[in-house]
Amino acid sequence: MKKYIIISSVVLFVLLSNLIVVSSGCAVSQKVQNKTGIQLWGENCGRCHNAPGPGEFSAVNWEIIGRHMRIRTNITDTEEKKIIDYLKSTAN
Ligand code: HEC
Repeated sequence: MKKYIIISSVVLFVLLSNLIVVSSGCAVSQKVQNKTGIQLWGENCGRCHNAPGPGEFSAVNWEIIGRHMRIRTNITDTEEKKIIDYLKSTAN
């Protein structure tokens, strides 16, 4: 009987710890939230090309470019917004 109690508590523990991992799996990680647009640019966009010069694109252009490049980069909405907000701040 004692053996069954031990086994079932181990099983319960494994199930509960998996539940915690699964239920927090979709949340945007704290790490990304703490990163700035310029950091995220470096990590995601810079691997394919250099940053455009300041004022090369208007704020409206950036909205379109952001969506286009988000697909290429496979980033989240939050990451796209941070990067595009940073790039817009360089627009004329
Ligand atoms: C997988 C490679 C790749 C990644 C990652 C990537 N790009 Fe690009 N990017 C390209 C290519 C290729 C082009 C030129 C052709 C095109 O527009 O598809 C381009 C063009 C651009 C242009 C010029 C647009 C124009 O109309 O001339 C800008 C600005 C840009 N990318 C910004 C970004 C930003 C911001 C990110 C990150 C969110 C990013 N890119 C990530 C490959 C990439």
